[in-house]
Amino acid sequence: MDSKPSVQNPVITPSATLKESASFPIGNIVSANRLSGSDNYFRTLLNKEFNSITAENDMKMAAMFVGPNTYDFSKGDAIVAYAKANGFRVHGHALIWHASIPNWLKNYSGTDVEFEAQVEGYVKATVAHFAEAKTTTGESVVASWDVVNEHFTNDAEAAVFYNRIGPDYLSKCFTWAREADPDVKLFYNDYSLGSNTEKATKVTNMVTDFKNNAIPIDGIGMQMHVDYQYPDLTTLTSNVTLLKNTGLLIHFSELDMTVNKDKSLNSLTSQRSNAQKERYKNIASLYTNTIPEEQQFGITFWGMRDNDSWLLNFTNNPNEWPLLFDSGYNYKQAFIGFLEGLNN
Ligand code: G3I
Repeated sequence: MDSKPSVQNPVITPSATLKESASFPIGNIVSANRLSGSDNYFRTLLNKEFNSITAENDMKMAAMFVGPNTYDFSKGDAIVAYAKANGFRVHGHALIWHASIPNWLKNYSGTDVEFEAQVEGYVKATVAHFAEAKTTTGESVVASWDVVNEHFTNDAEAAVFYNRIGPDYLSKCFTWAREADPDVKLFYNDYSLGSNTEKATKVTNMVTDFKNNAIPIDGIGMQMHVDYQYPDLTTLTSNVTLLKNTGLLIHFSELDMTVNKDKSLNSLTSQRSNAQKERYKNIASLYTNTIPEEQQFGITFWGMRDNDSWLLNFTNNPNEWPLLFDSGYNYKQAFIGFLEGLNN
C-alpha cells in the first residue's frame, strides 16, 4: 500500500501547487508513523502541496492522556518536529472530545472534583507542552487547538465531561487552555455546521455567551464532511455567512466529499469525477470569497489518497473516492477543481 501502485491515464498535471495558490494555509492530516515510515510519496506530496498539518489521531486525548496526571506526548512531538523541520503550521486536534476519552478516565472512580482536576491538568499540561516548540521567527509551531470537538450532540451530553463537570465544562476548558498559553488560537470544532442551521445557530449562541462572559475563543472549525450533492450551495453559503458573522476565524477543518453514497458505482466515472471537481471548485471559491481574509484560518483536508479516508470504513463502502488524490497518489480532477476555486 505504501508504494506507488499505478499510473493514471491520462496524467493530470496541475499548473500550480495548492499552498502557493491560496492566500491562507492549506492543510492535511498526518500520523507520526506515516511521517517516519517508508512512504516517500506521502511526504513528497505533503511537502509540495500543503503548509499546515493536523494529527488525525495522535494528539487526541485517548492517545496522550495515559493515566492520572500522566501524559504521552511522544507522537505529537514527532509531528511537531516534522512540522518545524519542514515549515508547517500545526493545528492541534482535539483536546476534549466525547469519542476520544481514555478508558481509565471514562471509568474514573474519584470524586467529581478530582475528575475535573484531572481534565484541567490535562488541558493545561497539553497546551503548555505544545507551546514550547517555536519556529525560527519565534512563533509557536502549534498555532491552534480544537479545544472542544462536537459538543452539540446527544453523545456529548451523555459523556463524562458533561455529567461530571457540568454544562459549563466547555467554557472551563477554553479558559484553562488560555491560561496555559496566552497566544494559541482556540477553536470550537463540529460537523454538519454547513448543512444544519439550527446547530450552526447553537454555535453562534455559544460564541455570544462566551463573549458576554469573557470566555476566550478565537475560531470555529466547520468540519465539512460533505457529499457531492449535499448540502446545497445556498444553505452552505448562508451557514458559512452566519458563522463568519461572529467575527471569529473560520477553519474548514476536515474537508472530504462522498460521491457514491448509494453505492451505485464500482469505479469513479468521468461524469461523477467532473461533478466532484465542480463541487470542490465551489467550496474553494466559497471559502475564498465569503470569508474576509483576516478570518481565513485555512482549509484542511481529512486525508491524502482516496483509500486513506476514514469514510471507506465509516460508510462500509470501498468504492468511495472522497479526496484530491487517487490510491496511486495521482492528482484527480477534484484537485484541479479545488485549485480553480482558489483562483476564482
Ligand atoms: O490504532 C488502532 C490499531 O492498533 C487497531 O488495530 C485498529 C483496529 O480497529 O484500530 C486502530 O485505531 C483506529 C484509529 O482510527 C487509527 O486508525 C480506531 O479504531 C479508529 O476508531 C480511529 O478512527 C478515527 C476516528 O476519528 C476516531 O478517533 C479516524 O482515523 C479519524 O479519521 C476520525 O477523525 C474524526 C475527527 O477526529 C473528528 N471529526 C470526525 C472525524 C471522522 O470520524
